[in-house]
Parts: sequence; C-alpha cells; structure tokens
Amino acid sequence: MSGTAGEGTTVTGAQGDDGATRTPTDTERAALLAAAHAARQRAYAPYSHFRVGAALLTSEGTIVGGCNVENISYGLTNCAERTAIFAARATGQLGPPDEGPRIVAVAIVADSAEPPTPCGACRQVLAEFGRGCTVICANLRGDTLTIGLDELLPHAFGPW
Ligand code: THU
Repeated sequence: MSGTAGEGTTVTGAQGDDGATRTPTDTERAALLAAAHAARQRAYAPYSHFRVGAALLTSEGTIVGGCNVENISYGLTNCAERTAIFAARATGQLGPPDEGPRIVAVAIVADSAEPPTPCGACRQVLAEFGRGCTVICANLRGDTLTIGLDELLPHAFGPW
C-alpha cells in the first residue's frame, strides 16, 4: 500500500502489507512451470509463430493456465498472461482485489533467447489481481528469471 503522508510526501515500499503476498515454494514453482509449458502447447500463434504459455498460482492454491491467442486483425491478439488471468476470473478463482483469492505467482514460458518478461499491458493487469506477486520467466533452455511484479512495474496505476 502507498499513501500520502503529507503534501509532497509519499509513503512507498510497503509491498504486500495486506498480508496476502508470499513467495511460492519449490514445489509450486515446478508445478507452475509445468502448467505454463502445457498451456504453451495450446498457443494460437499463426502470425508471429511466437508461442507463449502462462500459469497463475492463486492464494487458494489453484493453478490456472493461459496461452497467447492471435487474430488476423493483429491488434486483437491476447497475451498468454492475460488469457490466464481472464480465465481465472471468469471461473471464480480470482478477486475482487483485497477480498477474494489473488495471484501469488505467475510463470511465463516461451522459446526466447532470454527468459520472457511480461509486456507492459500484462504487468498492469497482473497488478489488478496480484500486487507484489512473484513473476517466474523461463525459456525453453531452462534459463529463468524470478522477479517481483513491483520491480517490473513500479508505481503501477491504481487507487492503492
Ligand atoms: N505475447 C504474450 O503472450 N505475452 C507477452 O507478455 C508478450 C507477447 C504474445 C503476443 C503475440 O501473440 C506474440 O507473443 C508476439 O508478440
């Protein structure tokens, strides 16, 4: 949470002070990566040929996968991360923020030279349901980058 302590003063850095954020266990990490790989198999990417899989861990312990879904009208493409988030919300597994289940961690898998970090739009959508969550990025060689969403998207837009 961040708030204004006085004019010109901003209190920041209390990431996760709603008590809901935590670091995924090794078992959860492995399960998330496996789910992201499985979701990647369902990617629909006939235009970019860049197949992405994502998987969320919710605070209730459920894992929800998603893949990128492209469209001939290219701008309508949906990223893997947002597909997973929307699927989780649509099936009653997320939110409302600060009340219901939230995103603890997300894994993202793609065939990239470096571990694939989420695009800016997906960072903002992740923040809606998973402020301070852990982001695990992996390529097919097994290189990983594990980083906090607060580091990927500092000062996210929001009322918090
Ligand atoms: N893509 C994702 O699925 N997630 C991201 O964070 C960035 C990009 C997809 C969208 C598109 O289908 C393909 O990767 C190439 O941009």
